[in-house]
Amino acid sequence: MKSINAIFASSDEIELSDLAQLCQQTLNLDHYPTANQCQQNVLIYQAQDLMNAMKRDPRATLSELHQALSTSGPGVLVIKQAQPNMALLDRHNTLYEAILQQEAGSTQGGDHFAKQGANGRIWNALQKVALADPNAFLHYYKNPMLSWVAEAWLGPNWQMTSQVNIVRPGGQAQQPHRDYHLGFQSDETCSRYPISLHRLSSSLTLQGALAHSDMPLNSGPTQLLPFSHQYELGYMAWRKPEVKQYFAEHHVQLPLEKGDALFFNPALLHAAGQNRTSDLHRIGNLLQISASFGKTMEAIDHQTMCSYLYTATLKAWQQNALDEQELNTLVNSIADSYAFPTNLDLDTPQGETAPSTQAQHFVQHIKDLVSPEEYQHSLARLCQKRCP
Ligand SMILES: [Fe+2]
Repeated sequence: MKSINAIFASSDEIELSDLAQLCQQTLNLDHYPTANQCQQNVLIYQAQDLMNAMKRDPRATLSELHQALSTSGPGVLVIKQAQPNMALLDRHNTLYEAILQQEAGSTQGGDHFAKQGANGRIWNALQKVALADPNAFLHYYKNPMLSWVAEAWLGPNWQMTSQVNIVRPGGQAQQPHRDYHLGFQSDETCSRYPISLHRLSSSLTLQGALAHSDMPLNSGPTQLLPFSHQYELGYMAWRKPEVKQYFAEHHVQLPLEKGDALFFNPALLHAAGQNRTSDLHRIGNLLQISASFGKTMEAIDHQTMCSYLYTATLKAWQQNALDEQELNTLVNSIADSYAFPTNLDLDTPQGETAPSTQAQHFVQHIKDLVSPEEYQHSLARLCQKRCP
């Protein structure tokens, strides 16, 4: 396989054979002493075995979990019965349906990876459940399984988020993709990040899913392509037709039972499967867990910065004292230049996987010669949408 020497790369450099070569590896169970089996290159752990191993030798156990998710492993593992309390899962399911009912018609209901109406998506289910039933929340999120896998991959001080996905009978499969951060950026944007940041992106988050219903194969549990996270150009590969075709022919799917947890490297190619049942609502609590490092050292009030700098910037632009490159440089010191975190109920991406940023909004208003008064209103609306 071609080694990647370039600092930057583009989607033109994708070679399907490079991806395929990585995905043809076979998992060696001997390297994972705590796992009790391997199914289709996915490591399977029993919750009790993990518990015993953590008591015996936490460092070795965390190292093993890390290796499973890293570029020397398959990138994916399942913990059987990670949440054994079925009544607790039922309580959460009841809350999810109540939240969905409450939200029906009140939000734009956007889901950037699935057709509208095909599934029930709850953005920021973490906060919504916490407010709806603090007791159910605390018994659910105190689960040490979450902490062990998160700490193994991200170190201490990780931060939880949750996005519930209920795929109704007949719900279609997603397109294969990678996840946050770079998985939410276009090929063009990805190509502007050095490859070192592509590697880093997959170390900054962990993707998890807790099964809140049984997920037999015909209900469409997550389609996975073990080892695909090892492909360095993969963040720019998943929209390519030949990669989609390869994924369609080689992905694996494991049936899950209610209470099982799936964890995978966010760079692993995956997609929710099609629900072919007539009556099973496949309920998964998708956990996206972040490392603590994605935060700035100082807290900056970008809204106020934008507000104070707009008039001067507009004037400079109108007087040709600022060219486009200078404007784009300047805006990174004024506005929030990243689309996340945001409120995905309100700040729904339009045609892309990421909503537009405060910086893009600022630049567009300057280019459109919007008056300072109008900009202030527009900025307030944007901020209200992102962080009401
Ligand atoms: Fe995903």
